[in-house]
Amino acid sequence: MSHSHNTPEKIILTAMLKDEQDWVSGALLAKQLKLSRVAIWNHMEKLRAQGFEFESRRSLGYRIKTKPQHLNAVLMQLYLKAKHRNFSFDILEEIDSTNDEVARQLAAGREAPFALFARRQTKGRGRFGRTWHSESETNIYVSFGFRPMVAPDRMQTFTLWMGVNICDLIASYTKTSPQIKWPNDLVFDGKKAGGILTEARIDADQIRDLVFGLGLNVNRPAKGWPVEIEHRAIALGEVAGVAIDYNRLASALSERIIEAYHAFGDGTHLKTFADLWNRYDVLRGKKVALIEADRRISGTVMGIDDHGALLLKDHGGKTQRFRAGEVTIEK
Ligand code: BTN
Repeated sequence: MSHSHNTPEKIILTAMLKDEQDWVSGALLAKQLKLSRVAIWNHMEKLRAQGFEFESRRSLGYRIKTKPQHLNAVLMQLYLKAKHRNFSFDILEEIDSTNDEVARQLAAGREAPFALFARRQTKGRGRFGRTWHSESETNIYVSFGFRPMVAPDRMQTFTLWMGVNICDLIASYTKTSPQIKWPNDLVFDGKKAGGILTEARIDADQIRDLVFGLGLNVNRPAKGWPVEIEHRAIALGEVAGVAIDYNRLASALSERIIEAYHAFGDGTHLKTFADLWNRYDVLRGKKVALIEADRRISGTVMGIDDHGALLLKDHGGKTQRFRAGEVTIEK
């Protein structure tokens, strides 16, 4: 389902969001939409069911009192810039994993790109087959489906490029200073605020279906984090010191991800990739330990190579590259 058509709900909200303090006359809405005032009222009931609250004054009309404090398709659509209005996305109440659902929809032939957001995941997955805590509606769980038709060996740089774009968007959107921990962790002072899981189906030496999954801790859960992750999880809202608006953030993120995807496809990402990576890389120059399969290597991070592999200088002064692994900074 795409949300690009102008439903009465969308037109009503657009009028009320223009200036949220302003009253919007019911008579005017009725005229504009060529609907009766009762019909307008019924459309507003639908919006109420989605979590909107309105004030009404007989002589003035309506205005918004509260907006839904969770992802809402109409709001997200309204916040998307005009050139992204056709972007196809859905918001699911609950799913096993948005990565799995996007993979299923790609396999079933859904036109890419598209995104699936979920309020909860029952089997959220992280890297290395780990579980990704996904019960909290204060986080964003989203996966994008792409059909990039590029060689599989570009996958690593793709996820690094997307990671720094997300980092850059969050830095400017929340006025905070996130960093990227290779390959894809979004961190603040060693605490994780987001993670990326990219999965691909490869056909005849080309990536056919690409699933780009992002888990982002947006606001701190009311009940706090589960004890297992309390010491290493943080939410954007905690760092920014203000509650983050899910719908504005989700639209801004979607726009940035789609733009970054196209830049990667036409090669223009090369103009800014190195700069962005250097700006947000938390590991450069740090002494780290890298765990890959059953090996543990310590060394100093020298940056990344053209394929996105991590460059590690060991104590003997020899530099080695690593395509995968988990890094911890040594104190
Ligand atoms: C990691 O840091 O290990 C990656 C975490 C990726 C989590 C996201 S949440 C949305 C998407 N669906 C999943 O099952 N995983 C990713």
